[in-house]
Amino acid sequence: MRVGVIGTGYVGLVVGACLADAGNDVICADVDESKIAKLKQGKIPIYEPGLEDLVVRNQQDERLRFTTDVGECVRASDIIFIAVGTPPGEDGSADLQHVLQVAETIGRNMDSEKIVITKSTVPVGTAATVRAEIEKHSGLPVHVCSNPEFLKEGAAVDDFMKPDRVVIGTDSDYARSSLAELYAPFVRTGNPILFMDVQSAEITKYAANAMLATRISFMNMIAGLCATIGANVDHVRKGVGSDPRIGNSFLFPGVGYGGSCFPKDVKALIRTLDDLGVDSGILAAVEGVNERQKRLLLGHLDERLGTDLSGLTVAVWGLAFKPETDDMREAPSITVVNGLLERGAIVRVHDPVALEVARGVFGDRVQYEDVNYDVLPDASALLILTDWKQYRSPGFERIRTAMKRPLILDGRNLYDPQRMSQLGFEYVSIGRPAGMPVAVAASQ
Ligand SMILES: NC(=O)c1ccc[n+]([C@@H]2O[C@H](COP(=O)([O-])OP(=O)(O)OC[C@H]3O[C@@H](n4cnc5c(N)ncnc54)[C@H](O)[C@@H]3O)[C@@H](O)[C@H]2O)c1
Repeated sequence: MRVGVIGTGYVGLVVGACLADAGNDVICADVDESKIAKLKQGKIPIYEPGLEDLVVRNQQDERLRFTTDVGECVRASDIIFIAVGTPPGEDGSADLQHVLQVAETIGRNMDSEKIVITKSTVPVGTAATVRAEIEKHSGLPVHVCSNPEFLKEGAAVDDFMKPDRVVIGTDSDYARSSLAELYAPFVRTGNPILFMDVQSAEITKYAANAMLATRISFMNMIAGLCATIGANVDHVRKGVGSDPRIGNSFLFPGVGYGGSCFPKDVKALIRTLDDLGVDSGILAAVEGVNERQKRLLLGHLDERLGTDLSGLTVAVWGLAFKPETDDMREAPSITVVNGLLERGAIVRVHDPVALEVARGVFGDRVQYEDVNYDVLPDASALLILTDWKQYRSPGFERIRTAMKRPLILDGRNLYDPQRMSQLGFEYVSIGRPAGMPVAVAASQ
């Protein structure tokens, strides 16, 4: 099938590469010239496991090509995905300027009947607005559908290739059968394609992200209770998650959620609910807990080192909002590192893949190290903000001897508190008392 993907960010690039890999003829367009130039040379502008191989191979096999000419992408395709960014506007609502600009370009370049799909996360009602914008410029038949994306950065290729479900909102039989055919190679194991009306599909994406964010904030609230009372959130998490009605996913307490989706999608859903006069109280609380959680480690540090950190070095492991990605959009590390700088600390940071992105965020205000141990010499504290695998079993003796004060504030609960105190660390984690062993799973 002839597929166009407009916007080649984390979502568009994965969608384009995976659809090409299934045999489709795919053209990806982006207005970012440097991004397209890199992609044409087989260089991936983001870190996403498995993606480079797909982009190189499918370009070589001439099933995947890149252009900065969005109009050409429209004319060369029968099915067009809009995958541009929808960042939060000043009032928290999703900023649709890129989506609507693309809709206008589609309208102006329509040369035959097309299926246009909003892949970007957009508020309920957007597909209708996109259709109206296209129809301002073209009288040709257009089938506007909503097909929200549920991939996770860090596992995006796998998620697209083997989706739990594909959600498609459409009122067109033509689009329904075309999209069923397009997605058939990805649902061979029987996972469902859920067809529904357009508005329900638009709401489904926000509801899913808001639910996941709610679970995280809920467990962060419970972790706060555990910390106050001296209980262990690891035990509580396992006790709660063993209930099949609840499950274990997204119950890990930490330094708060971040990334390009949860913060902006929760905000946008609140805005939609408020605009429509539907109570958004749950989500306001979810946001409130998350904002507090991002500052939790700074509070623990203040208690131990005071609020003036002038002349003190603080080491940071992990900047990406989660492992296996270099994405730092709304990462809790930004709040934490800025808090350290405000307190006058000398900040040394490590991340396995996000240092280049971090340079764009912090400039020369922090010191960057390629090796995680190199942030430690003379440090009065080590803060762990992302649960990268390589931080899970480090050389503790090497850490202790390098640091000026063996103080670890672990925002990801990576280590056993009892072992850490035996090893001579002052160890602070989230919702677990110092010196208490980690929970032993019932199965062990
Ligand atoms: N990142 C995720 O994990 C994820 C997951 C599911 C859904 N989404 C949603 O998908 C959408 C895209 O997210 P992303 O993370 O890929 O964003 P991104 O910022 O990484 O990429 C967006 C791309 O669109 C391009 N663009 C902007 N305006 C354009 C225009 N007029 N014409 C052509 N290209 C244009 C930008 O240059 C950029 O390369 C958002 O709505 C997001 O909420 C993201």
